[in-house]
Amino acid sequence: MKKIFAANWKLFKSPKETREFFAQFKELAGKATGEVVFFPSAISLEAASESLKGTSIKWGAQNAYFQAQGAFTGENSAQVVKDLGGSYILIGHSERRSLFGEGDALVADKVAFVQGLGLTPMLCIGETLQERESAKTFRVLETQLNLGLAKADKTKPLVVAYEPVWAIGTGKVATPEQVAETHTDVYSILKALGFESAPILYGGSVKPDNAAGLIKQPHVNGFLVGGASLEAKSFSEIASV
Ligand code: PGA
Repeated sequence: MKKIFAANWKLFKSPKETREFFAQFKELAGKATGEVVFFPSAISLEAASESLKGTSIKWGAQNAYFQAQGAFTGENSAQVVKDLGGSYILIGHSERRSLFGEGDALVADKVAFVQGLGLTPMLCIGETLQERESAKTFRVLETQLNLGLAKADKTKPLVVAYEPVWAIGTGKVATPEQVAETHTDVYSILKALGFESAPILYGGSVKPDNAAGLIKQPHVNGFLVGGASLEAKSFSEIASV
């Protein structure tokens, strides 16, 4: 399966900083061992679109609503992302779930809408520390996948990003053993649901010095990277493992 290295820039980088980043990154991108995808913040998407025209580097939005247009103040349109040449929409990131109240039903509508447009949803799942410590990880992931994929089309592209909430932005990366075990579980859940061809990315404090150990684990098909994707050099090192 092809590897995918995705960058989640969250609420960082202006359009100007986005252009400067890509001027530098494009020089380094040739070493990537898989597909490279960027998720800039909404206001910088057009700068990303212009900078990446004519390259094989993909991009998308960190969130989009399940309608193309209408009275939905503050939302992003996946249709506009498509029109600008984007390929992906990140859906259900843990920050969307915990800070903005997104639940699995909304996630399911977004996944289905994005697939219907011909874009690829990158569905994020993951357990909290409390859930891991009370041995609920499998159940939590199974529920998020069951509900989040309830309206999804098995014949259309889908990417899943497993991001343990306790490892996001904390510097606390999951161990290779934890990643191996959990990715194997995620794969088995996806298989039971008929989505076994979906690549499974790991996310949560991925850095150049831990990426090589993690990519070797079973059912790890790439990474979703936050902090370490903000610098061209560190992200290109991760994308070339
Ligand atoms: P991090 O973020 O790499 O900074 O932990 C990952 C993410 O939130 O996607």
